[in-house]
Amino acid sequence: MSWADHALSDNASAGALLLTGLTGTGKTHEAYGALRRIAAGGPDKFELISVNCADMYGNLRPSQVMGAAERELRRLSEVQYLHIDDFGTAKTSEWTEEITYRLINYRYNHCLPTIITSNLPARDDEGPDLTDFVGARVASRLAEMVTALVPMIGNDRRRGGRAA
Ligand SMILES: Nc1ncnc2c1ncn2[C@@H]1O[C@H](COP(=O)(O)OP(=O)(O)OP(=O)(O)O)[C@@H](O)[C@H]1O
Ligand SMILES: [Mg+2]
Repeated sequence: MSWADHALSDNASAGALLLTGLTGTGKTHEAYGALRRIAAGGPDKFELISVNCADMYGNLRPSQVMGAAERELRRLSEVQYLHIDDFGTAKTSEWTEEITYRLINYRYNHCLPTIITSNLPARDDEGPDLTDFVGARVASRLAEMVTALVPMIGNDRRRGGRAA
């Protein structure tokens, strides 16, 4: 059963779908495929937000508009389906770790289905991996949340599938 079918049959136990792989292997394409499947098989009305990781942090930075960043964090935390594209592409800081913790911790506690695509591998002892990006507390929650880990392989489809 695909992750999308899992989410349709039991939303609260679907957890997270994690798609990893090199650039151009089709992660974003697959993520949209899962969302399309949910849209086709789900209720008439449901909420989803698909956001690029770097844009997400941009929108969550405290701005001159009072409360806007907190409202945005609440929107991303509470939405029924959240897709974060290119997770791990932003520059990390204590602030990104904290905000990622608050977002993922909320979705973890409330069993909200989440789709994450990333160029970083879930785990790589010799190079950068998702744990390095999110920090140990978030990585631990993600490890439990992820019910489907799909490592995408192949060459960059944008280059016609030729080796980069
Ligand atoms: N299964 C598929 N069939 C046909 N075209 C595909 C498929 N998967 C991906 N593509 C096409 O290949 C290109 C790269 O796919 P996509 O953007 O999903 O890659 P990505 O893994 O998200 O890359 P990046 O890491 O750079 O974000 C896009 O033009 C997309 O439309
Ligand atoms: Mg992509």
